[in-house]
Amino acid sequence: MTSQSNTATWVEQDQTQLHPLQHPSRHSNPLVIERAEGIYLYTSDGKKILDGMAGLWNVNIGYGSTELADVAREQMITLPFTSNFAGMTNVPASRLAEKLSGYAYPNLKTTLFTSGGSESNESAFKTALFYWQRMGQKNKLKIIARNSAYHGISMAATSATGISRYHTPFGPQVPGFLHIPAPNPHRYDGDIKAGETVGQAAARALEETILREGADTIAAFIAEPVQGVGGVIVPPDDYFPLIRAICDKYEVLFIADEVITGFGRTGEMFALNHWRVQPDILTFAKGITSGYIPLGGMQISDAIREAIWNAPEAESYMHGYTYSGHATACAVGLKNIEILEREHLVRNARTSGEILLEGLGTLTEFPQVDNARGKGLICAIEIVKDKTSRTPDMATTNALMSAAMQAGLRTRAVGNALAFSPPLTITAEEVETIVQTMGDVLVKWNSK
Ligand SMILES: Cc1ncc(COP(=O)(O)O)c(C=O)c1O
Repeated sequence: MTSQSNTATWVEQDQTQLHPLQHPSRHSNPLVIERAEGIYLYTSDGKKILDGMAGLWNVNIGYGSTELADVAREQMITLPFTSNFAGMTNVPASRLAEKLSGYAYPNLKTTLFTSGGSESNESAFKTALFYWQRMGQKNKLKIIARNSAYHGISMAATSATGISRYHTPFGPQVPGFLHIPAPNPHRYDGDIKAGETVGQAAARALEETILREGADTIAAFIAEPVQGVGGVIVPPDDYFPLIRAICDKYEVLFIADEVITGFGRTGEMFALNHWRVQPDILTFAKGITSGYIPLGGMQISDAIREAIWNAPEAESYMHGYTYSGHATACAVGLKNIEILEREHLVRNARTSGEILLEGLGTLTEFPQVDNARGKGLICAIEIVKDKTSRTPDMATTNALMSAAMQAGLRTRAVGNALAFSPPLTITAEEVETIVQTMGDVLVKWNSK
């Protein structure tokens, strides 16, 4: 039997699967992705699709790496997994922790491994609370996050998420999470004083919230350097330096959620380096293995490390996962970083990202495309009803996403924006294909 004739069977079998984050009706006739190579996906019924989303913002080195496959195979035969709990470790986890020590930011030298972004953020929140308990500041229990943030799907990570659709179906959220405006230069939802930049206004929102709640009640502030799911929101350059200063002033830990932006996507290996800012806690996942195997992690400053190391035995840091330091995942992570460095993929994210943003900018000639934005290879175009009212148009955004897929280009609707976040291996010609295909889709849409 060919793949083509198997497709109906696979689709039928798939009805036993609960797919994430969609109404099940969206999966009545899914595309079966059977294989992938480079930046392209191939369906079981013979379609070729340019994966303009690199999976879920994560397949940074592209598809089909035999190097990662070889390393996983070897490690699985040698030692697939071992407990990383009391008194044991494994070679790949030790080597990867050492590689990552000071790698993203010089002040972050210690890593806890997880299996993904939600677990990493959950770890960050618990670690912030643990730290302040150890420091004797037992009222520092609240976490400030931002509107339109996405931090994951476990209970606390969902509570930090600033998109209400993720909250309402599940009842009350974890107490203690507060939300402030994000520094969206295209649609700032806070107040701006005369003469203030969006960056200054959004930073002021943090300071005012800390003062209103009392600095002695705030444990941490969490932010994605570039918001992904919230619509690819790139902050103004003055924002993060101001945030760092405010967190220092009020003794609030700054957690950077680099689950999307880590490992090269924005054209720096880690995104806060664009603004020469270091967080107190970093969370990462996705790009560390380019999605070939689940792996994530959290890195902490020396002060937090000391609090954990110096805690009395009875008050130990009782946190971690079965798969913290998974030997096979860590081996793949090490090799993946080697490839990112060897192939200069961070540099390519920067140069190809500039071409992509410039190309997407030309699409603003269409009446629906309000603006194009991005940093490195995380970009978006924002879709509106018309450019005078600038009313967000979700229906058209979704319809354009489907039309692009029909035309062989995978993008993703994030709010009323279409995101483009291809593998960091993409060439200039392939970037042109993305822009050309999206342009053709918009021409067709406007000639209806
Ligand atoms: C910024 C950010 N944080 C956290 C997560 C959650 O990661 P995971 O789905 O691996 O739990 C995501 C997922 O897209 C993300 O984009």
